[in-house]
Amino acid sequence: MAKPHKHVFVCVQSRPPGHPKGACGGRGSPALVQAFADELNRRGLWDRIALTGTGCLGPCGGGPNVLVYPEGLLYHGVQAADVPTLVSEHLLADRPVARLLAPAEVW
Ligand code: FES
Repeated sequence: MAKPHKHVFVCVQSRPPGHPKGACGGRGSPALVQAFADELNRRGLWDRIALTGTGCLGPCGGGPNVLVYPEGLLYHGVQAADVPTLVSEHLLADRPVARLLAPAEVW
């Protein structure tokens, strides 16, 4: 496998109902992983973009959280409808999507 151009980590951490930290898994992140997979598949990008469902990334409150490397930029509150924009703008054009970036005090 060649080194990917970008690597997308989507938090799929789950926690029991009522847990004070909440979790991205309970806020729709499994569907978000599927949306990324569908978009990468549709555009034939698997040779350039890696996708990994991951455990807790830390700032749980604003999830679902998505971390993109090599930039190390954290997106929060990401929904499946945001995926085409993230792919077109950040992953393919190197233009981070400002409206979805986690605030500086979080990341
Ligand atoms: S549960 Fe997703 S960042 Fe903590």
